[in-house]
Amino acid sequence: MNTLFEPATVGMELDQALACHLGDVPAQASQGLRDTLGAMAQACARISEIASQGVLAGAHGLAERSNSQGEAQKNLDVIAEELISMALARCRHVAGWASEEQEQAQVSDDHGTQGRYLVVYDPLDGSSNIEANISIGTIFSILPHPYRGTTPGEMGFMQPGHQQIAAGYVLYGPATLMVLTCRRGVLVLTLDRTSLYGAGPARWVVAQDQVRIPAATREFAINTSNQRFWEKPIQRYVAECVAGDAGPRMKDFNMRWVASMVAEVHRIMTRGGVFMYPRDSREPRKPGRLRLMYEAAPMALLVEQAGGRAVNGTSELMDLVPDTLHQRVPVILGSRDEIDRIVGYHADPHENVSWQLFKTRSLFVQPQA
Ligand code: F6P
Ligand code: MN
Repeated sequence: MNTLFEPATVGMELDQALACHLGDVPAQASQGLRDTLGAMAQACARISEIASQGVLAGAHGLAERSNSQGEAQKNLDVIAEELISMALARCRHVAGWASEEQEQAQVSDDHGTQGRYLVVYDPLDGSSNIEANISIGTIFSILPHPYRGTTPGEMGFMQPGHQQIAAGYVLYGPATLMVLTCRRGVLVLTLDRTSLYGAGPARWVVAQDQVRIPAATREFAINTSNQRFWEKPIQRYVAECVAGDAGPRMKDFNMRWVASMVAEVHRIMTRGGVFMYPRDSREPRKPGRLRLMYEAAPMALLVEQAGGRAVNGTSELMDLVPDTLHQRVPVILGSRDEIDRIVGYHADPHENVSWQLFKTRSLFVQPQA
């Protein structure tokens, strides 16, 4: 347990807790980060309010447009995108931002040269779950503006995950929670919904500080409908989990799949587990489903700050330098012992043969008699 932030911040409001976590940071930088996270928290409180009103707030159904990657947008995708980008445009510390729902990075009209930070985000994660009234979320990451004094441009965003100054997600579930790290451990805050009905800002109260993900687990999450497209190391790992007590692991495993990454990661934060959206061979040009900058990198920082591990199979997710804003990557994260095992399977020369190779190059073909 990290004792750096004793006394614990439990019960404090967001800004006060951040001031504790950032006690060693120069005042201006600390204020910048507190204001930026505060702006994000207020936008997410508003998203929570609209999401919880469902059809009454026009949050359900398809918007009549698609995003830059040709995916149909839901009304709530559009609303969340607008609320966050408007909040960031007003924040004097933010030089620019990039969103899963926008084709290009945006430069702040007023703070593009002097802002300290770039913010990248997935405004509404798990949007296929909106009408089913299943948990959805927002994911965000704060990077330094690398060329302060000039506007960032798209190149400014091409930073590996280990450069992140802060990352977080908001889970819109039975309670609305924000899970946050400024690289000093992981905080969980609960939105006080009664504050939404007053005239003041939304109140976020710390429920937990220094979250730890157990290293061992018996729970995994993967979309098994893609099984035939997975590579061999993942085939092996999942087959061994499913074999349970009767297989080489000699213990039974449980499986979950919510189809909202935020909900899956939060379950892992709560009780451990493994989440996998691995490389698959469905569309060779897309090496995974999830986005490096908006989903994989921020979740990787959170998971690692809580003692877990996050990889693409062979490399740490936070070491990957993006080539493009919307780049996709395989994601395997969670309890450290299991992720170490999966990386080991990828490193095993007998296992690390692309499943696709077996199909396309006929390695299964029997020798002619
Ligand atoms: O944002 C992508 C996402 O919705 C994640 O939240 C989730 O983990 C995944 O896609 C679900 O994908 P699928 O529909 O293929 O199970
Ligand atoms: Mn998403």
